[in-house]
Amino acid sequence: MDNILIDPNIKSENDYKRLVEIFGVKELNDNIINLLYDIVGDLHVLIRRRFFYAHRDFDILLNEYNNGKKFFLYTGRAPSKSKMHIGHLIPFIFTKWLQDKFDVNLYIQIPDEEKYWEKKADNYSEIKEYAIEDAKTIASVGFNPDKTFIFINSEYIDHLYKPAIYIAREINLNTAKNVFGFDDESTIGLPFYIALQIVPTFFENGVPLIPCGVDQDPYFRLQRDIAPKFGYNKASTILSKFVWGLQGPYTKMSASDPKSAIFIDDDYDTIKEKINKYAFSGGKPTLEEHRKYGGNPDIDVSYFWLSVLFEEDDKKLFEIREKYIQGELTTGELKSYTIEKIWSFIKEIQDRRKNININKYMYDGKLAKEMWDWEFEL
Ligand code: TYM
Repeated sequence: MDNILIDPNIKSENDYKRLVEIFGVKELNDNIINLLYDIVGDLHVLIRRRFFYAHRDFDILLNEYNNGKKFFLYTGRAPSKSKMHIGHLIPFIFTKWLQDKFDVNLYIQIPDEEKYWEKKADNYSEIKEYAIEDAKTIASVGFNPDKTFIFINSEYIDHLYKPAIYIAREINLNTAKNVFGFDDESTIGLPFYIALQIVPTFFENGVPLIPCGVDQDPYFRLQRDIAPKFGYNKASTILSKFVWGLQGPYTKMSASDPKSAIFIDDDYDTIKEKINKYAFSGGKPTLEEHRKYGGNPDIDVSYFWLSVLFEEDDKKLFEIREKYIQGELTTGELKSYTIEKIWSFIKEIQDRRKNININKYMYDGKLAKEMWDWEFEL
């Protein structure tokens, strides 16, 4: 096994390519994207722009789907004292699109122990509160309540523990260390947590399809080694790049640094201020120079965010790019446009969140009810 940490240090597009080589995942190529298009007649912007850029067996899953084989969706979010930012929503937005298109069940894990065991919070009861808050934010993305089950690990542990017993026995500490880079200071919770993140891949007999950031792939790499031993399917993953932080290209959008991130609960004025003040710009220092030499969209955070998700119209994005390069569009104008786009996206989530009935996803929806009766059978 390669010694790759769960926190891949991405500094360029080449590093994403390197991850593909090291993890043994495949790039999402035109053939697969065409196959997806042929089945659903549409492509989400995150796929069109190749922000989801790599996968395991997604091609096989789609081909088998065409032959009647079932799959289900699984993803998650680990609560900590840090709030959710727009990067954290990327997998959920794409997952919703997949659920809409394929009308399949979706399981969302909220592991309230993970970040506590990582020492990213001092107080466990505080994390439990964040778990509910995050669950509400996630549900506000708009999943089908009858086909979605959101569960907090500590609440659902009676169901998770038995499969985790079997899974934990199949992963030795040496493998876990090699894949995740634990050191002598890591708590003993973390190696066991691997089993808990793998359990939901056994919730159904179909193939689990897991949309997530590329940092989460190591869990599922281990899952693929052990699933066949239990007669379950190897997980298929579809992996995204990371949204840059406000500071510039390939910086981390870090939940613990408000100057780097746009949070889902930020209000309009905060978003405006953050983008105007901190968003790294590819524009020239003076208006005169900008008009004369033009800006560089490829290092511009506002342009990057538009290109990832917030400007869905390909023609419009191209126009913005060209005008920026020509110096016709100023940094101020680009930022104002981005602020409005991000705000309309965030406002929609915030509005839905006000009326969200989280019980439907956690306890009362059709799938949720079924899952509270679920027992792991080998
Ligand atoms: P967490 O809470 O760190 O992150 C939640 C999801 O968001 C992705 N992500 C990002 N995507 C794009 N740009 C960013 N800047 C960015 N930052 C984070 C993460 O890759 C992740 O998909 N261990 C998991 C929780 C979990 C989980 C799962 C994730 C439990 N079960 C199953 C995926 C699938 C975690 O700590 O995620």
